[in-house]
This record gives sequence, C-alpha cells and structure tokens, in this order.
Amino acid sequence: MCGIIGIVGTSSVQERLVESLKRLEYRGYDSAGVAGFAVDGVERRRAAGKLKNLEDVLAVEPLTATVGIGHTRWATHGPPTKGNAHPHRAGRVTLVHNGIIENFAELKATLKAEGRVFETDTDTEVVAQLLDRELSGKPPAEALKSTLDQVRGAFALAVMIDGEPDMLMGARRGPPLVVGYGKGEMFLGSDALAVGPFTNRIAYLEDGDFVVIDHNSAKVFDAEGHPAQRAVQTVPQSATLMEKGNYRHFMEKEIHDQPEGCQRTIAAYVDTLTGHAAFPGGIDFATLERIQIVGCGTAYYAGMLGKYLIERLADLPVDVEVASEFRYREPSLHAGSLVIAMSQSGETADTLAALRYCQAKGMKSAAVVNAVGSTMAREVDVVWPIHCGVEIGVASTKAFTAQVSVLAALAVAAARARGRIDSAEEQRLVRVMLEAPRLMAEAALAEDAIRKLVPELARARDVLYLGRGAMFPLALEGALKLKEISYIHAEGYAAGELKHGPIALIDEATPTIVIAPSDPLMEKTLANMSEVAARGGPIILVTDAEGAKHAAPGMKVIIGPACDPFIAPLVYAPPIQLLAYHVAVHKGADVDQPRNLAKSVTVE
Ligand code: F6R
Repeated sequence: MCGIIGIVGTSSVQERLVESLKRLEYRGYDSAGVAGFAVDGVERRRAAGKLKNLEDVLAVEPLTATVGIGHTRWATHGPPTKGNAHPHRAGRVTLVHNGIIENFAELKATLKAEGRVFETDTDTEVVAQLLDRELSGKPPAEALKSTLDQVRGAFALAVMIDGEPDMLMGARRGPPLVVGYGKGEMFLGSDALAVGPFTNRIAYLEDGDFVVIDHNSAKVFDAEGHPAQRAVQTVPQSATLMEKGNYRHFMEKEIHDQPEGCQRTIAAYVDTLTGHAAFPGGIDFATLERIQIVGCGTAYYAGMLGKYLIERLADLPVDVEVASEFRYREPSLHAGSLVIAMSQSGETADTLAALRYCQAKGMKSAAVVNAVGSTMAREVDVVWPIHCGVEIGVASTKAFTAQVSVLAALAVAAARARGRIDSAEEQRLVRVMLEAPRLMAEAALAEDAIRKLVPELARARDVLYLGRGAMFPLALEGALKLKEISYIHAEGYAAGELKHGPIALIDEATPTIVIAPSDPLMEKTLANMSEVAARGGPIILVTDAEGAKHAAPGMKVIIGPACDPFIAPLVYAPPIQLLAYHVAVHKGADVDQPRNLAKSVTVE
C-alpha cells in the first residue's frame, strides 16, 4: 500500500523525505509527494509516476522546510495523477494517508452540502476537509480525535496543521505507523525501514492510537483519547538495512539470500546439537485437534506446502484458505484448533481479519511473520518469526522459503509430539533440513542453464506449471511469480488435473514447466508430461539428474540436486524463482516494482 514519512527536523527535510520515500517505494509507486512548512506557508510538491519524477520536480523547486511529510502512493480511489497524489490540502490541513476511508462517499456528500469544495477523486481529501472543519474551535489533537471518530476504514495518517510549524500528528487504525525518536528530531513512518536512516529507536503505535510529535517528544493517545505509553524499542540494524549489494535487483539478491536466510530460520526451530525440532511457544501438538492456516498469495502457497508436510508427517489435520475468502464464508471452526496467520509483512488486511475472526471464535493463534513488530505479531498468542531479513522485492521469494522452513520444522515437532515418528526419525529429518540451505545454493547454480531458456519463454502468452504432491503448491507459486513480474499469463495445476480441462490449452506456443524431482510421485508426473509432449506442447522439465533421464530427446531440462522429498519444495524454489526473474529481466520489466502491485496490502 502507500508509504508515509513525517519529520520534525532541525535541518532541511527534503533530502531525508526523499531518502525515506525511496525506502517506502516498495509499498506503492503510482505517484509521490512531499510538503513542509516554509516561512510564508505550506510548500507542496507532487508528481505522478515513480519517485524519480518527484525528484525532478524538487530539483527545480526545492523545499525549504525543516518539518514536513511525504508519501508514495498505491492508488485505491482515483487514478494515479498528480492531482490525486498526496499530500492533500484543505484549509489549514495538509496530510498523507495510507489505507481506505470506507465511508468517504457519505462524508463527502455532507461536507459538500456544507459548501466545501473538493479538488481530488481521493477518499483521503475527505479526512483533510473533515479535520479542517473540526479545527474550528478545537485544538489540533482534539480535532483529530473527533475526525477519527467520524471516519470508518483502515488507515494511517501523518498530518501538518498551518500555524503549528513545529508539530506533526499521526494516527493509525489498521495499517502500521511507527514513531521514531532522534536527537532533537522526531519521526513518523510506515515502518522501521522508513525512519531507519535517521534512528533505530522506535515505538510502534497500537491500533486506534493517535499521536502528536514535536522536536523532542511524542504524546500518544489511545482510541478513547486517553494518554498512552508505547514502549520505545531499539530495533536491530537488520530491520533498517536496505542494500542491493552487487545485484541488479532486490529480487535477485533475495533469491540468492535464501540459503543463508533458511539456515537462520531452520536454526531457530531445530536444536542442531541434539537433532530435535525445538518448536517454541508452548503449543501442545500432541493434543491439538486441527490447524487452520490463513494467508494470501505467496504466503498462502507456503501454507499449502505446510499442509502437505504436516498432515503427512504428523497426521494432524490442516486446513488452508486464502484469507480474503475465509471469514466471509462463515467457516465452521473448532475452539480446540490453532490458527496460523502466514504473512511476510504481518499487516495484510485480509489475513489480519481472518486471524481476528478465528481469535473471536476462541481459537489459539500463532503468526509466521517476517516483521516481528507487525500488527499480527503483536496480536497473536505465539509468534514464529521467519528470520529471513527485510524483504524489499515486491515479489516474495526469501520469505516463501523461510515460511516453508518454519512449517517443515513444525511438521517434525508435531510428528514427534504425536508419536508418529521416533527420536531417530526426528533426528534424521532434522539432518535433512540442515542440508537444505546447501542444496538450495546448489540448485541456484542452474541459473546459467535457466538464462538460455528465457528467450523462448519470454515470447509465450500463456505458460502452464505442473507439479504433484508438494510440487503442486510450488507450481502455483512458480506461476504467480511469472505472472506478477513478467506479465505473462501463467497457471499452476496439479499434474493429475491436466486431463480434466487444462490440456485443451496445450499447443506449440504454450510452454509447460513440469516440476518433478525424484520422489515416489515423479513417474506419475512424468506420465502427465508425456501427455503434453504428445500434443506438441513445449516442455521445460525441472528435476534432478535421475529425473532428467526420463526427458525425451530435445526436451529442455533444468537440473537441480537430488534431495530428500521432505525438503524438495525448498531446494527447487530458487530455480523456479530464477526462471521468472530472468524472463522478466529479458522482457525489460520493472522486476522490483511490478505494475499495479504493492508489497504490503493493507486494504481488503
Ligand atoms: C507475491 C506476493 C504476494 C504476497 C501477499 C501476502 O509475490 O508477494 O502474493 O505474498 O500479498 O503478503 P504478506 O505475506 O505480507 O501477508
């Protein structure tokens, strides 16, 4: 979604606002804008398109302010034009907003009837107009409170008030907002990354909070308007670092970061000395009746993989569902179940809502998240961090394998607790898991072979991905990666489903990517591959040396290392991600900022 920054500084804020917006651009990149207090009033600069366009504007018309706000937008209401770019102004109010104001239409009608004139198509302007109205006769914090009482929706705000040049206000309901503590300077930001270059001392606002900051302090109020204390934490440097190193794109770096990331993840959930899965959090897997996993997109596919691993190994029923559907279909839930929210950001609105739905039914809750300061992490009974470091590429890669690693360790711990495996088997599986990072790095060595296959794939209009068993969720994830960054239509199918419909799509121009490393199901998948070959469909087989022996002459093959099927989804993820990455690069697509997408989807 959108990114927000606010700075009450002692020196010019322009450069710092832009630096911060660069860090926030992964949240949205339709348009950007900044505003600050100049000697003679508020100065504001906005531009449609990428941040670079705003920088061009600022080069000609710089800001002079030492106190200001900035925004990078992922459009919800109104096209991504300069006119709809934040900050928005109304009377004494200038503000930036992340999220959605659900009752904006009715508020707008009322405000219009009162004679207020609107300049934009956005829902945000309604908040600016409303706050300006509330300011007549009320001090700023009180006016903000009564504005917040009238708006419905999920949002984070940073606000400037004319005549109050040493102060900013912020509010959050849903999407996150942090307060950064500097030396004689204070900050508001969508996340720790946004304020990372200026401070690592951060307080996370609670849902419903609003805040007034000046040069030296933050006054926080809860949703009822009562003063509140929010602990100031020193966040680790890893939460504020954002470097591409020698890589061209964050996504490329994050793909190659995976072996190291997964090593960290696995080490957090297994005892490398004793060889036991040491799953923290006090959940009694022996008596647990069911697990309900909720997530969106890639996190959902990681959850699907978890289902395959946990049910087979631990004989523990696992339901997995896309969070956006889950709560609206009024699912039948058991209080004795555990809900696991899968989410890199820990902020995805649908996943959060599904989590809260389960909590309200009395279920115990856990979150498998990357952002440990996120809303989900703070609202659950147990947090299982994925430890893979900040993920910047909009297309999720290293978070996926880290999420799968956590669930694989959970499968082992649950299987042992339920007596489905003995200690020797547990130790064997832990050894297998500890092998995964090395094998993932080996699998990524197929990159040169992958590059050679790219030109043909990049010409395709449609691509099918096939897999069986745990390779099916990986096929779904492969298809998602390809479509989101290269804009080629792709579908993942369970290989056995092919003949029930999708086989009609096979022709010479529709490549099929078959993911089939050696396992008990490989031969069945290869039989499905032959059905495609028989109909003239081009095939790329992703397998190990043993599987490659089954490739027909002339068939394209990507060869990865042989591995235990338990870790095959981890080992074969890097080549699948690299394939999508190189196709997108070949097509000249903006890999780290694919069109229409945003990293953290904090609206429904
Ligand atoms: C795809 C992708 C998205 C996210 C989804 C959930 O590459 O990144 O599908 O996986 O939006 O996001 P989180 O994990 O932050 O809840």
